Amino acid sequence: MTIDSQSSNRTDEPAHPSKRNADLVAAFTEHFGTRPDFISVGPGRVNLIGEHTDYNDGFVLPVALKRDVRLAVRRREDNTVNLLSVEYGGAFTFDLNDFHSSHENLWANYVMGVAWALQERGIALTGMDAAISGNVPRASGLSSSAALEISSALAFLKNADALDALPGAQIAKTAQRAENAFVGVNSGIMDQFISMLGSEDHVLLIDCRSLDYQLIPFPAGASLVIGNTKASRSLASSAYNERRAQCEEGVRLLQSALPGITALRDVSVEDLESHRALLPDLIYRRCKHVVHENQRVLDTVAALEAGDLDEVGRLMSASHDSLRDDYEVSSPALDVMVEAMRETPGCLGARLTGAGFGGCTVALVRTGDEQGVANAVYEKYPKATNIWPEVYLSRAAGGARIEEV
Ligand code: GLA
Repeated sequence: MTIDSQSSNRTDEPAHPSKRNADLVAAFTEHFGTRPDFISVGPGRVNLIGEHTDYNDGFVLPVALKRDVRLAVRRREDNTVNLLSVEYGGAFTFDLNDFHSSHENLWANYVMGVAWALQERGIALTGMDAAISGNVPRASGLSSSAALEISSALAFLKNADALDALPGAQIAKTAQRAENAFVGVNSGIMDQFISMLGSEDHVLLIDCRSLDYQLIPFPAGASLVIGNTKASRSLASSAYNERRAQCEEGVRLLQSALPGITALRDVSVEDLESHRALLPDLIYRRCKHVVHENQRVLDTVAALEAGDLDEVGRLMSASHDSLRDDYEVSSPALDVMVEAMRETPGCLGARLTGAGFGGCTVALVRTGDEQGVANAVYEKYPKATNIWPEVYLSRAAGGARIEEV
């Protein structure tokens, strides 16, 4: 297809959930020869603002997406877990008393990790047959991993009659533990938390230290336009760990003047400037991003509550500039896409979302101008990068849930 034939009046929207459920039930029935009992759903997320703050005990402001991972599930009375991945076409079996991570079926490690982490918390699980299907783009910064972890956690908990055994924040913590300790990815708490506790038409302010949270109505008169750069994120995991280490180094150096601090969350903008001389320039710039980003999240909440959409957009754009210049996790592809969005009428602000180095951008756009912003991305981005992007429209969707079949 040529660029011209794709460039107007379309975005890349997913199939309707009822069609997806019907397809998933059909795949389950064909593979397992019986019908599932229920479907568990874990959504992906897009972060409005508060990037690289979660592992610094700070604040984040994500929304859940209507894109999600779904498991069609039938309970088993033994300890066997039989998994079928609809998209990968692979099947995988494990025993709840014997966990070995898989090198061939990496997706299965997320499900296994969650079972391992739930049992570690003392929850007795039972086996299941499950067919898995997702439409959160993978490796794109929209948290397909957290969506799989959370939908798996709900499936195991429902089968164990233990849906009320843990509060949502602790289910999120358990899924994060699975990702950190079983899968081996050192992520923060944001993605699992919003997948679990997102709420339709709301953004979620999360205090990543206390795990307190607050739902804030998604603003009337605006929506989100998400652009997928489709650019590789090959640097993401090594650079992510390096950024985390640089933040810890900043805390260590600042402690000589500020002995009470344990994370960058404890450092104010004024503190940082007063003690700037303690930090090498690179570490200062990393800390500057985090300290100001925490403040931007709180300022965004105030602006949302005041209905000041221009200010929300301005803060989102300031976040991107800081991620690009000081935290240095942007990429030419992300910058080109963000610029294409910002130049378009009706775009209030735009930034990269997620860890960076590729993946997705998010723009806050006045209602009615969404397609114009999408068209600007379809038109300008491929010319600059030779890569065909995807664009998704979104408000805020609901969090994890069990659906009847
Ligand atoms: C990834 C991690 C999150 C968070 C973001 C950056 O999505 O999984 O925990 O650190 O990067 O804000």
